[in-house]
Amino acid sequence: MNRFPEVLMRGYNVKRIVPGKYSLLLCYPKKANQEESVICLMSVVSKYNRIAPIYELVDLPLELFFFREWRKEALSNLSGKILEIGVGTGRNLKYYPVGCRLIGIDKSEGMLRRAQEKAGGMKNVTLYPMDAEHLEFPDNSFDYVVATFVLCTIPDPVKALKEMRRVLKPSGELIALEHVHSNYPFIDFLEHLINPFLFFLLGDHTTRNTMRNIEKAGFTIEEARNLAFKDVFMKVRAKP
Ligand SMILES: C[S@@+](CC[C@H](N)C(=O)[O-])C[C@H]1O[C@@H](n2cnc3c(N)ncnc32)[C@H](O)[C@@H]1O
Repeated sequence: MNRFPEVLMRGYNVKRIVPGKYSLLLCYPKKANQEESVICLMSVVSKYNRIAPIYELVDLPLELFFFREWRKEALSNLSGKILEIGVGTGRNLKYYPVGCRLIGIDKSEGMLRRAQEKAGGMKNVTLYPMDAEHLEFPDNSFDYVVATFVLCTIPDPVKALKEMRRVLKPSGELIALEHVHSNYPFIDFLEHLINPFLFFLLGDHTTRNTMRNIEKAGFTIEEARNLAFKDVFMKVRAKP
């Protein structure tokens, strides 16, 4: 909804004409003599800016029962220069070893603000507002790229993964914790069922074939481990 005030200030009224997948909005001028009208989409960023104040509450059960253990296991042995994509509210920050240098990026300033609060006392952490599809870092600059529950939300995941591969050193590694499209027909059915709801709320795709996307971007998958719900939640390690 973050685009609303912007648009309204420019003298437009806003009407949701297609609820659901892309939250299609019709923005039309307040002045009757203006012919012009624009249709805009509610972006993933707007959704995260909107939900940022309650995000940690929304996924608290998953965090408590599953995610925090997975984060700890995946991140606590990393070293060197690390880039975290879609750092969100900064839930991973406390799991990185103090000796590493962490750069975190996120496109949602609302989410990033919360991460900044957590990073307050951490001298080894720097956070930037940035689009994962256009990383502003030179080639071969990171030892690790970390993506946790983010490849399911980035609008063009293959483009972002190609960027992650570009900025990784040849010896580097992609570490991902993700929910992915399941090969079990019943789970696949459930994923399709909840997909529109989660997309509407969080821009989240439950049916995305993230493993295939990682390979499409040129990575070689070294480890793909099922974490929970059969093959839905996965830990992936991949080489550029
Ligand atoms: C489901 S949240 C996960 C947050 C965090 N990684 C975690 O594990 O809790 C997804 C995050 O990805 C961010 N995101 C989505 N698309 C992005 C993009 N193109 N570039 C950067 N961040 C993006 C969202 O703003 C949101 O903070």
